[in-house]
Amino acid sequence: MLAGIPLAGRPSHVPAELERDFNIYNVNTLNEDWQLKLKELVHGEGIPDVFWTPHNSGHWVAGRAAIAKEVLSNAEHFSSRSIVVIPEMNPNPPFAPLQIDPPDHAAYRAILAPAMTPKAVQALGERAREMAIELIEGFKAKGECEFVGDFATWLPIAIFMQMVDLPLEDRPMLLGIADSLVRATSPEEQMDGHIRLHQYSMQKIQERRANPGNDMITTLTKATIKGEPVPDETSLGMLNLLLTAGLDTVANMMGFFALFLANNPEYRQRLIDDPKSITPAIEELLRRHPIANLAREVKVDCELGGAHLKKGERILVPAIAYGLDERQFDNPEHVDFDRANKIHEAFGDGVHRCMGSMLARVELRVFLEEWLKRIPNFTVKKGADIQVTSASVAGIRELYLVWDT
Ligand code: HEM
Repeated sequence: MLAGIPLAGRPSHVPAELERDFNIYNVNTLNEDWQLKLKELVHGEGIPDVFWTPHNSGHWVAGRAAIAKEVLSNAEHFSSRSIVVIPEMNPNPPFAPLQIDPPDHAAYRAILAPAMTPKAVQALGERAREMAIELIEGFKAKGECEFVGDFATWLPIAIFMQMVDLPLEDRPMLLGIADSLVRATSPEEQMDGHIRLHQYSMQKIQERRANPGNDMITTLTKATIKGEPVPDETSLGMLNLLLTAGLDTVANMMGFFALFLANNPEYRQRLIDDPKSITPAIEELLRRHPIANLAREVKVDCELGGAHLKKGERILVPAIAYGLDERQFDNPEHVDFDRANKIHEAFGDGVHRCMGSMLARVELRVFLEEWLKRIPNFTVKKGADIQVTSASVAGIRELYLVWDT
């Protein structure tokens, strides 16, 4: 629960029957399925498709697949200026292109595009593979690891360091920042990680301005929008987005993949026996374990799923809204690598759809391929708790795995 944010009063245009006691920062779980717990709170019996909560400054919640799609795809009605439901917690300087609405959004997205071409992603994937092999070989003989800290956060850090050409000696510091972003137990702690990242990124931008290189930070410092140079503050927002967008998301998603496979040996065996099933398995595990809780600001008074939304209000699209909606998927709780419907919204929808989805899929593939080759049988360590923290991105704090050596 966020300290210092009192419950908001229900606005007069919101009928009492649309109000629910729902706090996305409080949906933390201990040894429970986080996605199912969130689903219960959003899709439970009698819960309206769109409801109002007084928590976190008061905001709407868009619970169902069709409504989530409408909110994420309609940038004319729903602005990305507020990507966090609590207005004061929005990144500053704004994460561009994530917090820029069309028509300006495309120009910012184009600046980052060279980092995400298939060729660039392939090179980054090779780096991820080297790192994955090195890490797994490093702890394999021990018969145990703490998956999040010993493996999952390292891969995206290695990728980012390569993308922006950072020196190896910065790794411990970046891992420290990554740790406070991925494992924060409160939004305040996460904010502290953002501040440290901010200071680090600004220093790097200034260094590259003085000494240009051949990397993404240099690209940012040379970028122009409508013929004008991009100010350092904007470059800073873009650089921070690049690191954070690909860090806790990939690390946390890997955590959910690893937990599922640790608990389900028959699925693990299927991936080992039939490596071709890795591609559909990645999509199905992304659908079943979505982690990103997205938010938008209402731009114009409008009606949505039976509710009247007013300009300036905020709306949350909880992670499970699309992928775990039984109106969209039969038996959505069940993992089925052969599921015919493979369309999910784990990477969002509309103009802000994840730019790093190709890279994320490569990292997830590298993890599955290299891990299962070396550690085919593993389980969660007896007695180890699985704690999931819920924020903009949900994640497993620590995941102790064991295997026979
Ligand atoms: C499994 C891992 C990942 C997940 C689940 C994920 C999820 C998402 C989601 C849901 C959005 C849309 C946010 C919104 O509409 O408000 C998004 C946007 C974005 N993601 Fe990812 N992401 C992942 C990995 C990555 C990686 C590896 C990168 C690159 C390093 C990346 C870069 C971005 C960028 C730049 C945007 C903003 C796109 C725009 O505004 O046009 N993401 N991501």
